[in-house]
This record gives sequence, structure tokens and C-alpha cells, in this order.
Amino acid sequence: MSEIDVAADVLRAGGLVVFPTETVYGLGAVCTDDKAVAGIYELKGRPTFNPLISHVDSVEMAEEYVEVTPLARRLMAEFCPGPLTLVLKKKQDSRISLLATAGLDTSGIRIPNHPMTLELIKKTGVPLVAPSANPSGKVSPTTAKHVRDAFGQRCPMVLDGGDCAVGLESTILLMTTDTPVLLRYGGLSVDDIESVIGPVVRPEKDPDAPQSPGQLKSHYAPNLILRKDVALSDVRDGEAVLGFGDCPSATLNLSPSGDLKEAAANLFSMVIELDNPSKFTGIAVMPIPMQGLGYAINDRLKRAAYDRG
Ligand code: TXA
Ligand code: MG
Repeated sequence: MSEIDVAADVLRAGGLVVFPTETVYGLGAVCTDDKAVAGIYELKGRPTFNPLISHVDSVEMAEEYVEVTPLARRLMAEFCPGPLTLVLKKKQDSRISLLATAGLDTSGIRIPNHPMTLELIKKTGVPLVAPSANPSGKVSPTTAKHVRDAFGQRCPMVLDGGDCAVGLESTILLMTTDTPVLLRYGGLSVDDIESVIGPVVRPEKDPDAPQSPGQLKSHYAPNLILRKDVALSDVRDGEAVLGFGDCPSATLNLSPSGDLKEAAANLFSMVIELDNPSKFTGIAVMPIPMQGLGYAINDRLKRAAYDRG
């Protein structure tokens, strides 16, 4: 069995694999597995649930999960595989994990230009979601050694594909607006992109400072008012209760056993299920402890409680 076959098996069984791309190394999981995706955030120690990029091996695979617009098709024909990520609308029946896309109805899609990883995706048969393979706050890794040094004992399986040729993350374009919007400068120049599809909207700010996609409404906000850290005695009439830990009266429970990884995996799907104004007047979320994935869960809940609309 080749190393790539082993890696595909690990991924299909819900494990994590670090893979090489032309930009930086990615920490991957199959895009349909909420628990595996929660494992990515846990290992990175990310204090927020940023949406993750789905890596596909072809335009055909992308089409199974997202709506590939004519403009996107032109860009892909020209630049993919390559350091370009396109944010596209998810298909209605898309099986991409809600946690991976942070509850959004869009997904960033890219075809990485590395033979090992293209083969890995093909053998796994499912897109791989992956952020850069570094602990939160550290620089993005461009060699397998960087990855092993950064994660140490906790390092998952690494496919060593040598040095990353580009060494800079992919350029990200939002494709769901009339004119595409640049979300992040990266390995493919905007001039090259504009030579194919004409002008794109660029962030007005310093081109070296990557624009926070948060400003472009890239965060799911519930319709109902969501309150966090609510004790059972403070639940209001008509409110749905999103429980954590032992709580038989909860409408839904993120994790009856108090497991933060399970809670992370369930977070978006449960909030979306409860976000039903014809059934409830609001969503009351019980306290989630501030440890491990609890930071990211609380961060997400805080934004959901704050974002109105
Ligand atoms: O080159 C790269 O893009 C590398 C390699 C591994 O592919 N990946 C990478 O991932 O840099 P990450 O997670 O470090 O950065 C992904 C960025 C985040 O800023 C995220 O907010 C944005 O992509 N993003 C992903 N999906 C999005 C979406 N649906 N809407 C808006 N932004 C999105
Ligand atoms: Mg990163």
C-alpha cells in the first residue's frame, strides 16, 4: 500500500492528514465529517471558527458541491490547479460540513497544484477541507519539517511533498457578488486575474494587510435573538434551549456528556435548526466552559448574539 493510499484511508476513517500544496502545507480532513473538522480546530488551537477552504481535484468534483458560475469556470480554466480560491454558493444538497463553512451558504474552493495532493483527493473521493497546517498564531508552514516542529508529539500523519513552490497562501475571490471581490491577496496576482475577467473589487486598505472577510458578511447570523450563558432558571417563554452537559429539558443538546469536540461538531447545525421564528421566540444557549474548543464555540456564540441581521 502506498503512503497516499494509507493517508486516504486515515481521512476516510475520520482522521487528519497534513498534505503539501504549492502555497503552504494544509491540515486536512474530509469535508463531510463534522467531528473530523472539529479536530482540525482543536489541533490548531484556533480561538475562532473561520470558514475553511475545500480542496478538490477537478472542476467536476467542485460541481458536485458548489454552483460553479460561468465566470468561475473561466478563472478555473485559466489558473487551476493553482494558488486561487473561489468562494462560491454551496449546492442545496451540498454535503460540506456546516462547521467547515462556519454556517455559511458559501464555500471557498481550490484545486491545489501538487501531484501528491491531487492524487490524495482523487483516492479519498471527497473534497478535503484544510487550513494552513500551523498552530494558531504561528507562521504558515512551507516544509514538512515546519509542520512536525510546530505540532511536535501531537502531529498527525504528514505527506512530505518537499518545499512549497509558491510559499504564500492562495488569493481568495468572492464570486457570489455581481463583481468579484478580492478577500485576500495571495500567490496569484490580481493583475493576472483581471486580465481574464476584468476589474475586481479590491479592499481599499493597505494591500499588504489581508482584509478580514468578516467585514464582507461572511458570518452566519441567526434570524432569532440568541442569548448565551443562560441559566435554565433564566430561560424566557417561547425560547428554544440549546443545552450543554446534563440537561434533559433542553430543546437540543450540543453534547449531553459535556464533550467540547462533539459540541463544536453540532454547533452550526443545531443553531440553524433552532433558528425558526415560526416555532421559537429566541435561542437561549447554556454556558459553555472556556477551555479547549470552548473558546471558539463562545466566540462564535458571541458573534451570533451580536450580529443582528
Ligand atoms: O493557500 C491556501 O489557501 C492554504 C492552503 C492550505 O490551501 N490555505 C489557507 O487556509 O490559507 P486558511 O484557513 O489559513 O485561510 C482561509 C481563508 C480564511 O481567511 C477564511 O476566512 C477564508 O479563507 N474563507 C474560506 N471560506 C470562506 C467563505 N466561504 N467565505 C469567506 N471567506 C472564506
Ligand atoms: Mg492560515
